[in-house]
Amino acid sequence: MHHSEHPYHWWQSGVVYQVYPRSFKDSNRDGIGDLNGVIEKLDYLKELGIQAIWLSPFYPSPMVDFGYDVADYCDVDPMFGSLDDFDRLVASAHQRGLKIIIDWVPNHTSDQHEWFKESRASQDNPKRDWYIWRDPKADGGLPNNWGSVFGGPAWTFDRQTGQYYLHQFVPEQPELNWRNPDLRAAMYDTLRFWLKRGVDGFRMDVIGMILKDEQLRDNPPNPQANPNAPANDIFGRLLSLHNMDQDEVHQIIREIRAVLDEFDERCGIGELWGDLDRWVRYYGENGNELQLPFNFRLMWEPWQAEAMRRSVDALEAALPPFAWPNYVLGNHDQPRLATRFGGQAQARLAAMLLLTLRGTPTLYYGDEIGLENGLIPADKIQDPQGKNLGVERTRDVCRTPMQWDDTPFAGFSTSEPWLPVSADHKTRNVKAQQADPASMLNLYRQLLKLRAGTPALQIGSYTAIDCGVENCFVYRRQVQGEERIIALNFSAEPRKVNIPGSLRGTIILSTHLDRNETTALGALELRPYEGLILVPEK
Ligand code: GLC
Ligand code: CA
Repeated sequence: MHHSEHPYHWWQSGVVYQVYPRSFKDSNRDGIGDLNGVIEKLDYLKELGIQAIWLSPFYPSPMVDFGYDVADYCDVDPMFGSLDDFDRLVASAHQRGLKIIIDWVPNHTSDQHEWFKESRASQDNPKRDWYIWRDPKADGGLPNNWGSVFGGPAWTFDRQTGQYYLHQFVPEQPELNWRNPDLRAAMYDTLRFWLKRGVDGFRMDVIGMILKDEQLRDNPPNPQANPNAPANDIFGRLLSLHNMDQDEVHQIIREIRAVLDEFDERCGIGELWGDLDRWVRYYGENGNELQLPFNFRLMWEPWQAEAMRRSVDALEAALPPFAWPNYVLGNHDQPRLATRFGGQAQARLAAMLLLTLRGTPTLYYGDEIGLENGLIPADKIQDPQGKNLGVERTRDVCRTPMQWDDTPFAGFSTSEPWLPVSADHKTRNVKAQQADPASMLNLYRQLLKLRAGTPALQIGSYTAIDCGVENCFVYRRQVQGEERIIALNFSAEPRKVNIPGSLRGTIILSTHLDRNETTALGALELRPYEGLILVPEK
């Protein structure tokens, strides 16, 4: 099944970079990024030092949820290009040694998908059972109390056929019925379609949701619900007990993995939430499910060294020996990391953390230049979550155009982009940061380069070190006699940490990019928000 001559797989030693295609690079002046735009930037990505590109959806779509409402699993939306463009993208990426991971959205389609059009045509249509239809309750009410993640109930009534269909996102995203074997087979064929085109892996959208409680029982109230949530946030007021993470989903994920394993070295990544003990099961009992169930936990930690360490240590302790860790600090659903963690200095330290932990890191486009949340005026909100649940919930803030240079539309496009370019593109852009040796971009490049050339950082073991002071996180990475120490100061004050084991060490990288010296490890000085990578003397 695996190439035994390579003890580590590309998805273990390499770094994943997420491209949100609408916002990366527009090649044809319609203000929307596209696949040819990604091709134009492959050299940039290669030089940055990443291994794999994950593309958010580019399928034909009415774009109610910006491509996460798929109208055809086996094509490209003309807005993004064509299948030929996609094939060229794969070939050009592979030429450069880069892998291509695509998004796969198995929980729901668009209401414009042919399958759904058939399904809603009549109660006895052969595809009726490919979606989740239920009669109204005796009093005409909704089949159960579930809510949509984007606000409102999870059910919409279809007048023509007199039943409700389930959607845990917008009503234009009807949910597929994975209990139907024909649907399952059809979905596995959509995987094969892309695998044959050379795709190296899939990021599987809300994969833990695809199977629901067979009886669709009501969810209990969530005792921790935010009391200030808007009235239509039904989803947030309930515990997600019966609508996701059902034990039976694992059988399906094993089947999905078996499809990937019909091909060589393909990787399954899953969007999964939940407590560690439930989450860890998505690796499969013997590693026969997903290679990388996304680990989002660090994103939710407060900016505090002890909290980060606890999260990492808990993950390390929870993983069975075959399971490979991974870390995510940003994506297209979350506030920008530079904003969430409080600023550029924190973002630099976060970059060092992400790229030196044991496990596959996923970077989000623009984080390598420290992009911050965009300011989206209320009348410019595009995201259905923002439209339904309020300005402060809009995900548009992290989807603003990539900032390549200081031209009016930041080198993203020469026409007005679909979301406003942030004002700071005049100074915060790739071109300016390429020219500045101390920039965030150069920090990312150096971190990625160091990681790629250092087995201890790529595949070495992880051991936390008690360093004796508050708000610093220090750990050792080690493989076959090669050793690196990472010391991270999360505080706004200078700190002196004590690193036991060696008297002295050589600093090979500082987040400030201005320090390469040999120093005593008993009282190692860290400036505010400084992180260091060191080689200890033997
Ligand atoms: C996932 C995606 C998100 C999308 C939702 C529905 O959470 O990351 O962007 O809106 O699924 O597909
Ligand atoms: Ca375009």
